[in-house]
Amino acid sequence: LRLGVLASGRGSNLQAIMDAIDGGRLPAEVAVVISDYADARALERARSRNIPAFHINPAAFPHKGDYEEAVVDTLKKHAVDLVCLAGYMRLVGAAMLEAFPNRIMNIHPALLPAFPGLHAQQRALEYGVRYSGCTVHFVDEGMDTGPIILQAVVPVLPDDTPETLADRILEQEHRIYPEAIALFAAGRLEIRGKRVYIREG
Ligand code: GRF
Repeated sequence: LRLGVLASGRGSNLQAIMDAIDGGRLPAEVAVVISDYADARALERARSRNIPAFHINPAAFPHKGDYEEAVVDTLKKHAVDLVCLAGYMRLVGAAMLEAFPNRIMNIHPALLPAFPGLHAQQRALEYGVRYSGCTVHFVDEGMDTGPIILQAVVPVLPDDTPETLADRILEQEHRIYPEAIALFAAGRLEIRGKRVYIREG
């Protein structure tokens, strides 16, 4: 399975995916990494492993559709089977969804459908929930609304700050994202409407 990873920043989820591949837990390869930010650490992490890594600057295109076509071209050029959003801070549009139907995954740092969008950890803390976590889901046209693949739960502790909660959640992200991709790689995920069924392995 050839993965195309889209990341806007730090790239710790990209790292977890590459580590899972190295560790034999994920039969896949990262074919290409694309970032909308030139200085994203995710690009460095890819390059240090000799994985093709490109900055595609949205500001260089007159319309969002043109930017996305450039992203799709690059993904296709590298024969990507599955697109993994890993801290990619943009809403996916029609061009990408049409090019990769049911073949785009995202990781979100909350138990969807609670706290979609930005600053999910801080908003969970401020809301006062006792538990939060993370969600791997297929991407549809909405903001963090697509069919849910895996979730992991963590407690919210009295002394938590947005950072300590984010760290606790991140640890689980790094576990379940490679796991969800491995299920896809094994052909075990079946989408029926909003629900994703996991077939016996
Ligand atoms: C993660 O918390 C992810 O869930 C969210 O953005 C963060 C990205 O972190 N969408 P990283 O770039 O993978 O380190």
